[in-house]
Amino acid sequence: MADNQEHVDTPESNYFNNHPPPKALPKHETLARAFVELQVEKKRRVVLVTSGGTTVPLENQTVRFIDNFSAGTRGAASAERFLENGYAVIFLHRQFSLLPYSRHYSHSTNCFLDFLDESPSSSIVVRDEYQNAMRDVLRKYRTAKQNNMLLILPFTTVTEYIFELRALANIMKPLGANALFYLAAAVSDFFIPRDRMAEHKIQSSEIPSDVSNNNNPLNEQSSSSSDEVYTGYNDPQPSTKSKKLIIDLDPVPKFLHRLVDGWAPQGSMIVSFKLETDPNLLVYKARTSLQRYAHHLVIGNLLSTRKWEVVFVTPEAPHERWIRVPKTRRSKSISGEENQIGLAEGSKTTDKTQEDGN
Ligand code: PMT
Repeated sequence: MADNQEHVDTPESNYFNNHPPPKALPKHETLARAFVELQVEKKRRVVLVTSGGTTVPLENQTVRFIDNFSAGTRGAASAERFLENGYAVIFLHRQFSLLPYSRHYSHSTNCFLDFLDESPSSSIVVRDEYQNAMRDVLRKYRTAKQNNMLLILPFTTVTEYIFELRALANIMKPLGANALFYLAAAVSDFFIPRDRMAEHKIQSSEIPSDVSNNNNPLNEQSSSSSDEVYTGYNDPQPSTKSKKLIIDLDPVPKFLHRLVDGWAPQGSMIVSFKLETDPNLLVYKARTSLQRYAHHLVIGNLLSTRKWEVVFVTPEAPHERWIRVPKTRRSKSISGEENQIGLAEGSKTTDKTQEDGN
């Protein structure tokens, strides 16, 4: 069976069979194949970093979608650390989320224009106080690009993400134990299956029947039974009662075990992240994930403290190890943003006992 074909009847294979691959996939595959071939030739280790949030469209011709909080800071910061440690990086990120290196000078908190000035001769120059920091970032960025160490590929929806992940894992097969998967993207757990998705923009006011499109699956569903409306008004006569949009989402199949059991190269390392908001659940959920998928490392983080503490949960002792940026080192970046833990950053580590004593 070809690696990209799904013949078995499982929720995962149904997902692939019922959704078209992203349009950009062939182009991304070509770029990734060339990138991986080069890294194999150079005997470099390659990490696939996934970063940013996935969207869940509510309409096929998408106007509205569900999103999540992730800005891609973890993924972008970690990619920089991997590059500094000799890894080539495939950076699979949510389009327009933070990118390695440029993240220091992008988005509203650190607009690049604030770093610039006009010289007496009218040239645009970097302001004196930012020269050293910007030179350092620029050199690292240039080195990564010139040495073909960084491949940047975007996704937007959860479906695009899953197709890209499978394809990239497959392309990374020749790397064997030189491949690492670092899954920092915030992947949606729920979605609207394609066969239940409205084709057109969901309407907030009643459309006269002689105007409405009879082929719109939303209209068909709405008029069949109020119990069976999946996306749209839970009311066959929305004009007479309050108008609510009821969204009925299915679970996205968990693809981590497919990655561990088949897609990823033999001998590669797989690191997943676990995000929680309840501190009492974090380690339990991270351990459960490790047991369920039998991969190598789960990095747990809480939404509120994710920028300066994470817990490494491993199958081997000590099983649980906290890594913290000490308060004194939680310096702000030049733009004022708090430091974010990236792999290999000099952070203080503590085991569970120390953590409890803190
Ligand atoms: O981007 P930042 O603002 O810096 O935030 C970083 C982060 C908090 C997003 C990051 O550190 C993080 O925790 N990412 C993972 C969040 C997440 O998706 O957790 P989860 O519990 O939903 O998923 C756990 C694992 O299962 C993930 O590795 C994911 O790849 C995998 N998964 C998730 C959903 C799904 N349908 N299939 C999966 O395989």
